[in-house]
Amino acid sequence: MFMRLTAVFTIILILSLTACSSSSPEVKRGEAVFTEHCVVCHSLTESQVVVGPSIIGIASRAGDRVDGMDAEAYLYASLLEPSSYLAEGYRDLMPLNIGRDLTDQEQGDVIAYLLTLE
Ligand code: HEC
Repeated sequence: MFMRLTAVFTIILILSLTACSSSSPEVKRGEAVFTEHCVVCHSLTESQVVVGPSIIGIASRAGDRVDGMDAEAYLYASLLEPSSYLAEGYRDLMPLNIGRDLTDQEQGDVIAYLLTLE
């Protein structure tokens, strides 16, 4: 009986994890925001520099960039105050208003999208 319950819970867990990893509406909207505003400078190909760094893997790096800032906080800072923490080796070329000109929802969406790029 216990084994069977464990199996059922395992299946439920796997199903819910798969549900989470397929794109939520927020992430889909965020991808559209990124395509419209960001991809001109941030490539989706690993190590390919356009003007800014490639954004592939940003979710895994972002949390290690600044002491005491988790990935989400760092991404918000990078989006809203691009000059506050410069990615090493890059010049301060990200437009200051690019994030602030987005609506709050667009900001949240694009961050949610970036957080999927592990
Ligand atoms: C005109 C070019 C340009 C545009 C457009 C642009 N960026 Fe940037 N971005 C840069 C540059 C250059 C850097 C590196 C300097 C710095 O950290 O500010 C950067 C850095 C970043 C970083 C930090 C990367 C890291 O590895 O630490 C994030 C996150 C980021 N941009 C997100 C965005 C998002 C989201 C958008 C769209 C809303 C966007 N950028 C639009 C040029 C741009």
